[in-house]
Amino acid sequence: MILQNDLLLRTARGELTERVPVWMMRQAGRVLAQYRAVRERAGSFITLAKTPELAAEVTIQPVDAFEVDAAIIFSDILVVPEAMGLPYEMIEARGPVFPQTVRSSADLSRLHVADAETDLGYVLDAIRLTKRELNGRVPLIGFAGAPFTIFCYMTEGKGSKTFSVAKKLLYTDPHFAHTLLRQITDSTIAYLKAQIRAGADLIQLFDSWAGILSPEQYRTFSLPYIKQICDAITEVPVTVFAKGAFFARHEIGQLDCQVVGLDWNMDPAESRTLVPNKVLQGNLDPCVLYADFAQIRTEVKQMLDAFGHQHYIANLGHGIYPDTDPDKARCFVDAVKELSAQR
Ligand code: CP3
Repeated sequence: MILQNDLLLRTARGELTERVPVWMMRQAGRVLAQYRAVRERAGSFITLAKTPELAAEVTIQPVDAFEVDAAIIFSDILVVPEAMGLPYEMIEARGPVFPQTVRSSADLSRLHVADAETDLGYVLDAIRLTKRELNGRVPLIGFAGAPFTIFCYMTEGKGSKTFSVAKKLLYTDPHFAHTLLRQITDSTIAYLKAQIRAGADLIQLFDSWAGILSPEQYRTFSLPYIKQICDAITEVPVTVFAKGAFFARHEIGQLDCQVVGLDWNMDPAESRTLVPNKVLQGNLDPCVLYADFAQIRTEVKQMLDAFGHQHYIANLGHGIYPDTDPDKARCFVDAVKELSAQR
């Protein structure tokens, strides 16, 4: 299948391009009324994610609504722990919850390394169906959580501001922590390779809780596992997005990945210096989309001026918030396209 719009892929591979590609983290979701309607029909988030026809439909919605340069498969990072034997629930207005957690080596007997084809076949079916329905319009991004972020949810059992249960284990039982991180890493590599075989054109790793670790802990408990994944994925470009890990930018830049994702706390010029040889992605504060249209354009212009128009993928610095006006999201995408087009 030849892609009609391969701008994101050419940029991710390090090529010079005619304008800056743009997409938004969490672009498929509650921002869109079309999404809320399908979600209603499905009954629950998990049913939606496990029904390939519906997952494909909501994956493509933002491509139609915002004309972004990529689709990202509708799923969740928490499908991996479930595939390893630890099911989750998505509680309305509260977020994900794991009824059981793993907190000691004894708990590990309940887990297995996920088999992508059998345990996560529904995601692979959704990818294959989405690719068919996209019919080459834009590339499809596959993704997974970084092992440390998945470790956080599996041990803590729910979202948390501090993840102090998860972090405590790094100090009290590092042997257990590394064993679990290894199992998550092996599951994730198999899962990502299966996503690529199913048709994913690029892979993004979300280390959403990277920012709660000290630089030294990050070097011990997160980076080595991200490195294993980057070394294993040789088929397509890989983006590493480590939210809050401003302190690790240089080391992340040394990994065998093609793109480094940034949040809005990370200065573009400083990031270019710390990560000189990679494509950068980010990093508009999602709250900018609460501003008026003129101010959104001004902020986009500043961002483009700061990053430059090459070796750069425009995005938000984290997922779009559900109460964002979709017209403001569209304004962000349009502004990137207009202001970065080479004349
Ligand atoms: O559009 C896309 O980006 C693709 C879909 C996607 C979802 N989750 C759908 C989703 C992606 C890439 C994710 C990743 C994800 N999930 C991350 C990493 C990115 C990040 O935000 O840091 C994390 C930490 C999760 C775990 C998760 N899933 C949480 C904490 C929540 C609840 C928070 C909330 O917004 O309610 C989810 C639920 C979730 N995942 C929703 C969506 C659209 C909302 C649930 C719903 O529609 O009912």
